[in-house]
Amino acid sequence: MIFNILSVFRELIKPSLKYGVLSKAIKRKKIKVNIFSYSDYLNDSDRMDDKQFGGEPGMVIKYKNASKAINAIKKSNPGTKVIFLTPKGKRLDNNLAKKMSKMGNISIICGRYEGFDERIIEQYADLEVSIGDYIVSGGEYPAVILMDSVSRMINGVVGNKDSVKNDSLNDSLLKHPVYTRPAKLKVGKVPKLLTTGNHKRIKEFNRQESILSTLKRREDLLEASNLKLEEREFLRKIKKDSIKSNAYLALVHYPIQNIKGEVIKTSLTNLDIQDIARTCMSYGIKKYYITHPVKEQRELAKNVLDYWQKGINIKNDSTKHKALENIEIRNSISDAIKAIKKIHGKRPKIVATDGRIMHNMVNYSDIRRNLDTDDSPYLFLFGTGWGLTKEVLDNADYILKPVGSYYEYNHLSVRSAVAIILDRIFGCNF
Ligand SMILES: C[S@@+](CC[C@H](N)C(=O)[O-])C[C@H]1O[C@@H](n2cnc3c(N)ncnc32)[C@H](O)[C@@H]1O
Repeated sequence: MIFNILSVFRELIKPSLKYGVLSKAIKRKKIKVNIFSYSDYLNDSDRMDDKQFGGEPGMVIKYKNASKAINAIKKSNPGTKVIFLTPKGKRLDNNLAKKMSKMGNISIICGRYEGFDERIIEQYADLEVSIGDYIVSGGEYPAVILMDSVSRMINGVVGNKDSVKNDSLNDSLLKHPVYTRPAKLKVGKVPKLLTTGNHKRIKEFNRQESILSTLKRREDLLEASNLKLEEREFLRKIKKDSIKSNAYLALVHYPIQNIKGEVIKTSLTNLDIQDIARTCMSYGIKKYYITHPVKEQRELAKNVLDYWQKGINIKNDSTKHKALENIEIRNSISDAIKAIKKIHGKRPKIVATDGRIMHNMVNYSDIRRNLDTDDSPYLFLFGTGWGLTKEVLDNADYILKPVGSYYEYNHLSVRSAVAIILDRIFGCNF
């Protein structure tokens, strides 16, 4: 595999070729590295960079000399794939490194300053690559990182093939912890099984440690990993047992806005009773409060509950109706808050929901993080009619961004909104 690297400071790249895996790969003729400098293609009077149009600070790599350099590299490397290093590129990961290791000849173009005149990229880039969501001052270190990760994927570069196969992030899993001698230290012992020589059991143990480590540190990776059915079930159980179950939900019928923005009470909807209860139960919501200030409406809700929970009906479908046990009927939002305060000894944080985009709305990931790290109970408020009033929204600790698509029409039923929102916050992705 041939790597051509074009950069401003080639001296930053050279030392990394003298050591470790890259140096061995060069000696074994698995890879060849040609280093080029922009300055080799400059006339004495030329500069390689210039001020950017538009007045923003920072210099930009000019088209003329960069294109001269890239044309020369392409000419001596027919068929080479031109890879620009830029924070705007496709994020480098093991899969991309593997794909690039099959390209045979790549030319890595490093930027500096504010980057490249866009027309250079438009003309030459086969691919733009970023080494991560952060900025370094130039493409030289990213080039070494790219070259190292791609080289490791080439057969024979890393002595033991299995060590690449077992690296973290293969199959979207993190590697299990590893240990060496001595087996006992004051600070801890190596798990006994690893010292027994029972390779079959060690393999199983390491696999389990690997999936557990991924759940703990990088749950997001599990979505793309190839887990066995029993592994998924095992992880789901562990995850479920670790969730702090302190989320509550209230369906609000007053104070609510109508289409004109006036404050109204809405009527109870039969479907909201059972459907939302079932969604709440499926996502571990501790209690579902139906709040209504009108006695007759509360009695209506109670009658519906009694109908399903008493007599012959409970025997018909006990699993579906079990969710109704989590319902409490209350007069108002503040009554629901009081009930939660009684359970937890502190006021819940209020998360209001709304179908409109407003200032200061929070992301789903923020609320998910809060629930993981904060011991406070959380009460999610869902409005009926045309939504919660301004006063309720103003008094909430958070207002969640609306769910929905890109279309102007956005009239999800509250039942649908509850399901989508709870899935975004409490849903399992593996
Ligand atoms: C200071 S950066 C320029 C960043 C530019 N102002 C921007 O916001 O996109 C200079 C050069 O370093 C390299 N570079 C910086 N961060 C990088 C990253 N995360 N991945 C790949 N290359 C990076 C690129 O070659 C880039 O052109």
